Amino acid sequence: MHAAFPALRLRRTRAADWSRRLHRETTLTPADLIWPLFIAEGEGVEEPIASLPGVSRWSVDLIVAQAKGAHALGIPCLAFFPNTPASLRSDDGREALNPDNLMCRAIRAVKDAVPDIGILTDVALDPYTAHGHDGLVDEVGYVLNDATVEVLVGQSLNQAAAGADIIAPSDMMDGRIGTIRSALEGAGHSNVQIMAYAAKYASAFYGPFRDAVGSRGLLKGDKKTYQMDYGNAEEALREVALDLAEGADSVMVKPGLPYLDIARRVKERFAVPVFAYQVSGEYAMIEAAVAAGAADRDAMVLETLTAFKRAGCSGVLTYHAVHAARLLAA
Ligand code: PBG
Repeated sequence: MHAAFPALRLRRTRAADWSRRLHRETTLTPADLIWPLFIAEGEGVEEPIASLPGVSRWSVDLIVAQAKGAHALGIPCLAFFPNTPASLRSDDGREALNPDNLMCRAIRAVKDAVPDIGILTDVALDPYTAHGHDGLVDEVGYVLNDATVEVLVGQSLNQAAAGADIIAPSDMMDGRIGTIRSALEGAGHSNVQIMAYAAKYASAFYGPFRDAVGSRGLLKGDKKTYQMDYGNAEEALREVALDLAEGADSVMVKPGLPYLDIARRVKERFAVPVFAYQVSGEYAMIEAAVAAGAADRDAMVLETLTAFKRAGCSGVLTYHAVHAARLLAA
């Protein structure tokens, strides 16, 4: 005769904190974080972004100060997004090619002051166009593929010449990774990486970002002819396969949390470095829940960021990067 007891008690290893720590399968460190920053014209300028509470645009001098802080916290990489003055936006987005544009000045200043931090630059024309699209549009507003790729090559070379370490095309044009890769090689930038926004969905979660780069009010229509339909997963695998074949060093899935299944499938299928972008709308949702008294910020930040690692991501772009790195240091 024996007492009825479970053959195995999974609660046994959960009973004490030391044991939970010992058995944890996934860990998050500051080295998993990429911090997106918005750049403003001027000096000593900090402009809070209303739809992204806690996030500001900073002028180049203040970006440098932020970069120093991030580096001290062990954050390996920053992502830059410029808020181009309205007077410099045009239908063809030519300011993207200006070697002295806001983006290039920020890259040079940060590389000069903090050479050991990586800089990822977004390649797409939306911060520079008067219509808010990521590329050149025809007379009916359709975004032209091959003509856009030509400009994106120029934008990439401009960023690489300023010192960008990772070129991250977020435009979703066909064929841009291969064209950009060979242009980088031709210009001697063989060690400049490409992180392809490979599976980027046409998403309702980008609203606050468009406020931050000043493109929300300008955008005519939507981005559904180039960004992916959120109902599709197999198409994401095809996008990733193409970008890898064209020479991408790593791939990104975007947005983040609603697309963890995509991140996992990409990792399992291709076994390459996968990054996720926890986008502006996701950040705003967490902050709104905190403001409503419905959630604990610290716990939500650590849980959501760890979930990306558990899904197979090498790292995460997140507006909570500094907050998370501070929590992890404590
Ligand atoms: C631009 C770009 C967008 C984001 C990153 N790069 C917006 C868009 O595609 O409209 C969104 C990031 C975020 O919401 O945090 N090509």
